[in-house]
Amino acid sequence: MILGIETSCDETAAALVTSGGEIRANVVSSQAELHARFGGVVPEVASRRHLELVAPVVREALAEAGATLDDVEQVAVTQGPGLVGALLVGLATAKAIAWSRRLPLVPVDHLRGHVASLYLEPEALEPPFLCLLASGGHTLLLDVRGYDDEHVLGTTLDDAAGEAFDKGARLLGLGYPGGREIDRLARDGDPAAYDFPVARVPGRDFSFSGLKTALLYATRDLTADELDARRVDLAASYQRAIVRALVARVREAAADLGSPRIAVVGGVAANSELRAALPDAALAPLELCTDNAAMIASAGRFTTPLAYPGYLGLDAYASR
Ligand SMILES: Nc1ncnc2c1ncn2[C@@H]1O[C@H](COP(=O)(O)OP(=O)(O)OP(=O)(O)O)[C@@H](O)[C@H]1O
Ligand SMILES: [Mg+2]
Repeated sequence: MILGIETSCDETAAALVTSGGEIRANVVSSQAELHARFGGVVPEVASRRHLELVAPVVREALAEAGATLDDVEQVAVTQGPGLVGALLVGLATAKAIAWSRRLPLVPVDHLRGHVASLYLEPEALEPPFLCLLASGGHTLLLDVRGYDDEHVLGTTLDDAAGEAFDKGARLLGLGYPGGREIDRLARDGDPAAYDFPVARVPGRDFSFSGLKTALLYATRDLTADELDARRVDLAASYQRAIVRALVARVREAAADLGSPRIAVVGGVAANSELRAALPDAALAPLELCTDNAAMIASAGRFTTPLAYPGYLGLDAYASR
C-alpha cells in the first residue's frame, strides 16, 4: 500500500491506497474552524496545528485500513504548491517514516494530486481528457494526455474560482470557507435576480475580480436587514455567474479539442450547480474534491519514487 500525506493548506490528511487505486483509508482533519475567526488561513497557525495532528492522523489512517507500517511499501507526500511552513510538516513526516523503514518516497505536486482524484476506484478515469481544476488557489484548464502528461490551456488572471466563492461569501456576511455556504443558500435564491458580469478575457483564461467588485457594489450600500432579505438571491446570482464562466470556457476548449471527455476536480467541483451544469463530465467524488491524501497517494502511483536516501534533501515549494 501507498501511504499518502497532505498538509499543503489547512487540512491535515493521511490515506492508504493500494497500487491498484483502491482507497483503504482516507482521514482528513480540517482546521477550518480554527481559522474561521480570522476569515482565512493563518499560515503559522496552520503549521503548528499540522505538527500536532499529523502523527495522530497517520495512526488513524493505519487503524482505519487495519494496517501497520509493515504494510506500507511507499510514502507519497505533497511537496507543493501551498504554504511552505505547512508543507514542511508533511514532508518532514513523510521523510521520517520513509527513512525509518528504508522505503521509497514520492514527492507529489498538489495540483497533479487533484487530477489524480479521478484515478481512484471504483470509477477510475483514464487519460486523455480535458480537466477543469477549480480550487481555493487555482483555476486551470488542463489538456491531460497521460497520467504524468498534462498541458495548461488556461489559468486565472486574478482570483481563483474558489477564492471568488470565499471572497463573495465574506461580502455576504457568511463564514469561511464560503463556497459551501453560497452553494447551500443559492438553492433558495433566484439566480436571475442580479445580472452579474461574466468576464470575457481572450484565449482560454479566466478572470473573477470584476465579478467580485460587482458583488461589492451590489452589497455595500445595503443595510443589515436589506442584506438579510437579499442574501439568497445575491448568492444564487453570484454562483450562477461563476459557474457560467467556468462552463463556457470548458465547452469552448472541448469544442476546439474535438470533444474529449470532460472532467472536473478541486474544491469547487463540489459545487452542486457546477456539477449539474456538466452532466456529461467525470466529476471527482464529493469527498475527494477538497484537499485529501487519497488523491496524493493516487498521484504517487504514477510518479517515479525516489529511493532511500535520495529524498532526504527534498524541499517544499510554494508555487509552481
Ligand atoms: N460546494 C462548493 N461550492 C463552491 N465552492 C466550494 C464548495 N465546496 C468547497 N468549495 C471551495 O473550494 C475551495 C477549497 O478547495 P481545495 O481544498 O481544493 O483548495 P485549496 O487546496 O485551498 O487550493 P489549491 O488546491 O489550489 O492549493 C474553497 O475555496 C471553497 O470555498
Ligand atoms: Mg487543494
